Amino acid sequence: MKNEEGVLVTGGAGYIGSHVVRQLGEANIKVVTLDNLYTGFKNAVTHGELIIGDTGDHKLVASIINEFNIKSVLHFAAHTIVPESVSNPLKYYRNNTCQSRNLLQCCAENGVKDFIFSSTAAVYGTPEDAIVSESATKSPINAYGTSKLMTEWMLRDLAAASDLGYVVLRYFNVAGSDPQARIGQSTKKATLLIKVACEVALGIRDHLSIFGTDYPTPDGTGVRDYIHVEDLASAHIAALNYLKNEGTSTILNCGYGHGYSVREVINAVEKIHGQPIKVIEEPRRAGDPPLLVANTERIHQTLNWQPEYDNLETIVRHALTWEKKLMANPME
Ligand code: UD1
Repeated sequence: MKNEEGVLVTGGAGYIGSHVVRQLGEANIKVVTLDNLYTGFKNAVTHGELIIGDTGDHKLVASIINEFNIKSVLHFAAHTIVPESVSNPLKYYRNNTCQSRNLLQCCAENGVKDFIFSSTAAVYGTPEDAIVSESATKSPINAYGTSKLMTEWMLRDLAAASDLGYVVLRYFNVAGSDPQARIGQSTKKATLLIKVACEVALGIRDHLSIFGTDYPTPDGTGVRDYIHVEDLASAHIAALNYLKNEGTSTILNCGYGHGYSVREVINAVEKIHGQPIKVIEEPRRAGDPPLLVANTERIHQTLNWQPEYDNLETIVRHALTWEKKLMANPME
């Protein structure tokens, strides 16, 4: 009997990848996670097999593709901290660009048909328009964005030269956690606004720094399009189905199409927490654009995707619930 087709998820022990692995498992899809556990956690992988290793390890990846009859790859494994990419760019080019190149080569050599790539709104840099569409100028202002854009280009060129199909998903600001709090954002030394604000609310950190109050935005603080991780995960399942149904290769923004300022996020955290949190105003952080909001027309036209959690307070409530759980039971 032919081995049932499997889906490989690189970085499936990480924040976003683990939510996708869970949804794939719940849909009874055979899923295999490859993760080096550099930032991921073993027990975040709720379904399928976990293999510990690097995406750039050609021999290992080839053996996984063949053993599990992998035809589809979802590639999450990456370094993702914008300020760190500014101070240590080569770390980002090595992991996000060079390792991705090795993974693509292995996929091309071993019959992978569909590839879904985790890209980022950081490829746009500081966009000319308030609402950014996929065709906007790509001009990253940090090495993180550049490292991801280079992989988008490799994918485009490889697809043109082979029968690999791809969907590039450009994430805006991912936040929140599994609504049932089975898994969530567990990254140590997190830098993401909503997570940091929840940590302050719970006394894990002393205060929240607002990085920049003089941006050309309505209240002077940075504006972002915050998307619930559960909705982002379901966009991946929709993208996989799209490719399986012979959809043509494409690039899609993943956001809700509206933004919130840092101050609005803080207000939501205070409301859900029921108490004010300590905030300190500081200068702008290197590599931060003032405003990033997705034009979401294309994802809605292309995929059968229905977001369920487009609500800042819901996102914050799920993030806070997870943070409390994590405090009581740290991840391994
Ligand atoms: C995040 C993503 C990045 C993606 C980008 C798209 C990660 C680690 N980063 O970066 O991949 O390309 O969204 O928009 O997933 N802020 C504070 N104080 C804090 C933390 C943040 O004021 O302690 C502000 C920032 O200056 C920014 C906003 O909050 O205006 C969001 O920052 P953050 O949550 O760190 O995400 P991004 O840097 O936007």
